[in-house]
Amino acid sequence: MTGSHVQTVLERIYATEAPELADVEAVLRITDGDELGRLFDFANEVRRWFVGDGVLLRRIVEFSNVCRNTCQYCGLNRGNDRLQRYRLTKEEILAAVGNIRAAGIKTVVLQSGEEDDLDADWLREIVEEIKSSRDAAVTLCVGERRREEYRLWKEAGADRYLLKIETSDPGLYGQLHAGMSFENRRRCLRDLAELGYQTGSGDLVGLKGQTLRHLAGDVQFFKQGNFDMISISPFIPHPQTPLAEEPAGDLLMTLKMTALARIVSRDAHIPATTALGSLHGRDERPKVLAAGANVIMPNFTPASYRRHYEIYPNKRCVNEDARACPACLEQMVGAMGRWVDYARGDSLKRSLKCEVGSLK
Ligand code: 5AD
Ligand code: FES
Repeated sequence: MTGSHVQTVLERIYATEAPELADVEAVLRITDGDELGRLFDFANEVRRWFVGDGVLLRRIVEFSNVCRNTCQYCGLNRGNDRLQRYRLTKEEILAAVGNIRAAGIKTVVLQSGEEDDLDADWLREIVEEIKSSRDAAVTLCVGERRREEYRLWKEAGADRYLLKIETSDPGLYGQLHAGMSFENRRRCLRDLAELGYQTGSGDLVGLKGQTLRHLAGDVQFFKQGNFDMISISPFIPHPQTPLAEEPAGDLLMTLKMTALARIVSRDAHIPATTALGSLHGRDERPKVLAAGANVIMPNFTPASYRRHYEIYPNKRCVNEDARACPACLEQMVGAMGRWVDYARGDSLKRSLKCEVGSLK
């Protein structure tokens, strides 16, 4: 493509409700430096226009690494018997959340493997407790559950839910998730949105068997889903998984996917994922922030447990004191001419919907 042709294709993708697979694939094929520059500038401009220069911080507490699932890429999958499994107590979770609030951060993500015997009432009590005493947005990320469980947590005050589709192609999904159901995952995403959660999804880049067509399908999926949050991470091989010998996902492809997610979603919150803080031992998050991302999600699991939550190897900050991070982040973000935003960072789509509603 020539530079002006790239511009035309990007404008077409931006303007339509249903981006053409061929257009998206053409963008994913770009390797020329000038053309890449146009893509990232376009995405950066959309980001600046719709979400501004603030970089939101979300803190994650990985409260359990117990998992019933079989995701071939994930170090927590149930077949990994070398992993010491843990679950934080309610008190430990609330203490970790307390530390997050003390650091001035108003969003906490409670994440775990998909536990078979997760006690929905136990989690409800934790959500209630956090919401009763602290001005914080609570995001849950505990996998595929029944609608009634989602409802219970929503009524307890949970604000948001993350459930990545990982890949939007049912065939590829089936290859990577033996015994799991693509249809059920989509059902969960529908339920979450209907119940009023700010809903996040996303994919992995560089999965075994994944083609450009699959990735282009993911971009279409993001557009159709109208998600409040979209998270795109490169695949990182984990030694105790069936994909141990596969190559890691490509940084450039991850950047292109992030840029496209920004262009089609416009005002979704898009993180520079932790996986990008540890790709090839380098911190690549500034590049993602310059290609459309506006969120960073550092880890706030108590240090003694953090090493057991190894979804992929060399996770950043595994050995660092989590409190040391804000200063590094302020510096990284400040160097880009942007600023760290300590607000709750609610969905921009919702505030727009409220405004529209209140006009009637
Ligand atoms: N590399 C990168 N990301 C991974 N995840 C799971 N395994 C890996 C891996 N090997 C991501 C999935 C999941 C999130 C919690 O972690 O996308 O949704
Ligand atoms: Fe636990 Fe994928 S292995 S949800």
